[in-house]
Amino acid sequence: MVYRPPSQDVTRLASWQALGEHRRALDGFSLRQAFTRDPQRFTRFSLEDCGLFLDYSKNLITEQTRGLLVGLAEEAGLGQAIADLFDGKLMNASERRPALHTALRRPLGDKVLVDGVDVMPQVQRVLQRMSELVGRVHHGLWRGYSEKPITDVVNIGIGGSFLGPQLVSEALLPFAQRGVRCHYLANIDGSSFQELAAKLCAETTLFIVSSKTFSTLETLKNAQAARSWYLAQGGSEAELHRHFMAVSSNIAAATAFGIREENILPMWDWVGGRYSLWSAIGLPIAMSVGISNFKELLSGAYRMDQHFQQAPFARNMPVLLALLGVWYGNFWGAQSHAILPYDHYLRNITKHLQQLDMESNGKRVRQDGSAVDIATGPVIWGGVGCNGQHAYHQLLHQGTQLIPADFIVPVSSYNPVADHHQWLFANCLSQSQALMLGKSRDEAEAEMRVQGLAPEQVEHLAAHKVIPGNRPSNTLVLERISPGRLGALIALYEHKVFVQSVIWGINPFDQWGVELGKELGKGVYSRLVGTETSAAEDGSTQGLIDFFRSRHRG
Ligand code: F6P
Repeated sequence: MVYRPPSQDVTRLASWQALGEHRRALDGFSLRQAFTRDPQRFTRFSLEDCGLFLDYSKNLITEQTRGLLVGLAEEAGLGQAIADLFDGKLMNASERRPALHTALRRPLGDKVLVDGVDVMPQVQRVLQRMSELVGRVHHGLWRGYSEKPITDVVNIGIGGSFLGPQLVSEALLPFAQRGVRCHYLANIDGSSFQELAAKLCAETTLFIVSSKTFSTLETLKNAQAARSWYLAQGGSEAELHRHFMAVSSNIAAATAFGIREENILPMWDWVGGRYSLWSAIGLPIAMSVGISNFKELLSGAYRMDQHFQQAPFARNMPVLLALLGVWYGNFWGAQSHAILPYDHYLRNITKHLQQLDMESNGKRVRQDGSAVDIATGPVIWGGVGCNGQHAYHQLLHQGTQLIPADFIVPVSSYNPVADHHQWLFANCLSQSQALMLGKSRDEAEAEMRVQGLAPEQVEHLAAHKVIPGNRPSNTLVLERISPGRLGALIALYEHKVFVQSVIWGINPFDQWGVELGKELGKGVYSRLVGTETSAAEDGSTQGLIDFFRSRHRG
């Protein structure tokens, strides 16, 4: 069952070499001219599936580029890797685990074997338990210590046990069931706890401690703070089970914390944190939008899984997005990638994709431990439009770096206000248009002459007004956000990240890099509180510890 990475050093493949030559031949390629020359370019480089329309015509590519990139995917063994992923091979070799988040969205009746055991009955059982729990809360049958129904659910979790659920429950607010509000407590910063607690009533609040490992410092500290707060507000130890549940693969640690076993929903080590919103980690989503909408979310992701497995690479959305990322990162020197949702409801998607992509593909060695000597995962950043246009888009338009961008926009709004949505959509399109078209020196000068500027002013300002253009972007359009379409959209990016990991030969499912900071944190903490008196490993850290100790007030 061990996964054998299909290619060790991708740069040695013939298709990689061919792409290098092709890239040199594309020096001077102009997107403006490409559109003028080919009226079919939009049709040629767009596709629709799973409720998502992808326009990737504004990329620095020709049909030959697409052919060569697809050739790279084939030569790198992507077809086999996709089959291995879905079959439950040990894709996460450094932790000797499969990565089977796709099993969580499979329909009833499917079989998925892990160590010879079909995991689907467990998956369905947990879904059934989620359904019962959500039903009890929504129907006012789950009551707090004073017999009042639950009105607020607080998810205590961080990283993948926070970002995915928060993205989805907030994106699906138009589908929220009345009566239950969802909150998220992630950071260890006491201010976030206090600010939230001030809004809550202990009698009607249910805390879900969400932690795959049940060993994450921030989550455990917040869970302890929540318990102390609940007791201080009048709750008792005896009634704690009415207010605390957990989702974890570490049942023993959750029980030791004081959570009753019947209040613990399991998850499995074959689901990575950043891929876990489809598991019981998604409980706050179901609490917010109801179990049928949660199942719709799973179905949407499943549709994307099927598309990913079945569509030919040249018409396969995750494969195309991934290959375009490889094209820019490895052949055009792009170091970051912007995610620009033009939808209030999708405002958290950048944060979720940032963890998904950067924690997965921020790696420097291949599966076999050999060093990768090309760029791997890019920096993922961005934020909601139009806000970004008045902040960081300037750098996209005129900065010195090439930064590919994904625009994501719905055709219709849940909250039409006058013509706001038309303007929102227009801004989204005009940003990708401006990135592509830019403004030539001739155009800039002509514009200023029409405005009546003196020739010396025209000469002085022209260079500042030139916008190079030819900057690539994808546009993903959806009718409007729905559980199914959102499921497909998130799964699209999960698979994009996976495809890139296969091309680079890295393991996208481990995250050893985050451990060092956690380990060192313990030493720093004991020096801050004085239980350790020896000097820190370096002068800067010791200097800052001394500063803290001399000024700390609370
Ligand atoms: O420290 C990183 C990380 O392990 C993420 O991968 C994970 O999503 C997050 O911490 C939370 O982990 P847990 O669910 O085990 O608390």
